[in-house]
Amino acid sequence: MSDLPALRTIQRSAPGFKPRMAVVLGSGWGDVTQQVQDAIRIPYSALDGFPHATVAGHTGELWLGRIGAQDVAVMSGRKHGYETGAVDGMKTPMLVLRSLGCEVLVQTNAAGSLRPGIPPQSLMVITDHINFPQRSPLVGELGSERFVSMVDAYDPNLREQAKAIAARRGVVLKEGVYAWAFGPQFETPAEIRMMVQLGADSVGMSTVPETILARHAGMRVLALSLITNMGAGLSAEHLSHAHTLSQAQAGGAVASQVLADIIEHMTIPAHTSTT
Ligand code: HPA
Repeated sequence: MSDLPALRTIQRSAPGFKPRMAVVLGSGWGDVTQQVQDAIRIPYSALDGFPHATVAGHTGELWLGRIGAQDVAVMSGRKHGYETGAVDGMKTPMLVLRSLGCEVLVQTNAAGSLRPGIPPQSLMVITDHINFPQRSPLVGELGSERFVSMVDAYDPNLREQAKAIAARRGVVLKEGVYAWAFGPQFETPAEIRMMVQLGADSVGMSTVPETILARHAGMRVLALSLITNMGAGLSAEHLSHAHTLSQAQAGGAVASQVLADIIEHMTIPAHTSTT
């Protein structure tokens, strides 16, 4: 394993802390940090290789603590491909979290919907993704492990658990395929029609690189989207980052409650060398 100064910084700040679950919070999901008990907070600026946040609505802090009885490492803020053009901005954080002991990565994001049955304010479990840009954070990696299988990249067991836990709270989690659009511009209506035809159910500008990195590192992945809008051309609303953020904020309280519940009650499957 490569040298990871950020891992040593974390271990110095929180000696003996060995979370099995990592969480990445996207737009709208930030309230989850309020549920972290006995939190130790480390700004990304103190962690070598962690991203410098440039996007409004994303802070840059690692929270270490407990949600219920679950020890968690929560990243509040992520790096997006559209910020610099590089897609490996989350490589070091993913390696550090895996090295810290995390076996599960729970990702969250805000996304546009491509289906009338998944209206704004829905919560959606990602079942699979389409990597439209065909960019990979694994370019430059060596060894046969780089040819990582992406079948069941979004762990079926964790998906079922998430749906069952949300249902107990009376929340139906939709399911669908997430299309990664590089951004930062929103899609054209023609691009949205193409994505619909190709089988995507939602669209967003994040998550896919981290999923690839997490699978490469041997973590199981669960990913949840808060739907903030219909894709371009599917409704009359005007898309903007401010619109995404206001919609994300509107749905954020429920989303964060559901997520905290999922984190607290999820059973982490036994670790095997193939996961
Ligand atoms: N497209 C891409 N990313 C998004 C959208 C969208 O419509 N909504 C929220 N994130």
